[in-house]
Amino acid sequence: MESLFAEARAVRTEHYGKEVFFRGLIEFTNFCKNNCFYCGIRADNRQVERYRLSLEQILLSCKMGNILGYKTFVLQGGEDPFFSDDRVVEIVGSIRKAYPNHAITLSIGEKPRESYERFFAAGANRYLLRHETANEEHYAKMHPASMSLANRKQCLFALKEIGFQVGAGFMVGTPFQTPQTLLEDLRFLEKLQPAMVGIGPFIPAANTPFTDKPGGSLEQTLRMVALTRLLLPKALIPATTALGTIAPDGREKGLMAGANIVMPNLSPKAVRKLYSLYDNKICTGDEAAECRLCMEGRIRKFGFTPSMVRGDGVR
Ligand code: 5AD
Ligand code: FES
Repeated sequence: MESLFAEARAVRTEHYGKEVFFRGLIEFTNFCKNNCFYCGIRADNRQVERYRLSLEQILLSCKMGNILGYKTFVLQGGEDPFFSDDRVVEIVGSIRKAYPNHAITLSIGEKPRESYERFFAAGANRYLLRHETANEEHYAKMHPASMSLANRKQCLFALKEIGFQVGAGFMVGTPFQTPQTLLEDLRFLEKLQPAMVGIGPFIPAANTPFTDKPGGSLEQTLRMVALTRLLLPKALIPATTALGTIAPDGREKGLMAGANIVMPNLSPKAVRKLYSLYDNKICTGDEAAECRLCMEGRIRKFGFTPSMVRGDGVR
């Protein structure tokens, strides 16, 4: 494992030096029409207190982020029908107008190609849509029949064609995952060639069908991060919040295994706890400014250099 991580770090250093890029995450709605078996904010979870941020609240989060130095805003939410294409276009357009040079990343799920085209035209640059698993049977065991892996893959290729920098990814340790399905995840990444790859451990969430399933391990997650770095040397790979949740130094270990991104939260403190994809999520009680400082300290402590540049990645 140590030599795998050392090799992954060396590849990462070759392309990105010691820099770790910051992305400001705004979780703007926890409403979701989907029912993924693993996810804490699935539609059927009636225990969740639902919230939506207004355009004004979103812009305020961006303002705070900009003051703190962020050059990337990541707008993430459940698949919330309230946020129609028109509303998303309005939000993206408003952010684009206020911050002409910032990167705007969307993470709002599967949409028709035409919707993605409108978001791109409105000024969005990047799109995160984890494929979750590249194996059909595995996908069917994690999602209701209304969802399909084929559509998700199609979305990813469409996003790429439109011109987005695309992020795919998967959880490690999900129920029914095997070494074979993990290999298929890597093969899929190889084919898609995404600019970004999000990898985190599965963590059981209350009031979900998978609540009693075991979570993913730190070791296996780090191994997949390192292998992904070797497979896609120039990828932008976050040390995820989920990694930091299963181990106090999980994100740092992620960086040591080849990750080069952190995504601290910019959402208003009042709604942080409500965006609970999984249990015991860290940083829900901290202000955006606190997370910024805390992450900076953690990054430096491990010999890396916090960077607030836009960080589009190398070609
Ligand atoms: N544990 C870990 N990660 C989760 N996600 C959703 N539910 C969980 C969970 N229980 C991840 C999915 C999704 C991303 C936003 O969060 O991979 O794509
Ligand atoms: Fe959020 Fe440490 S990164 S408090």
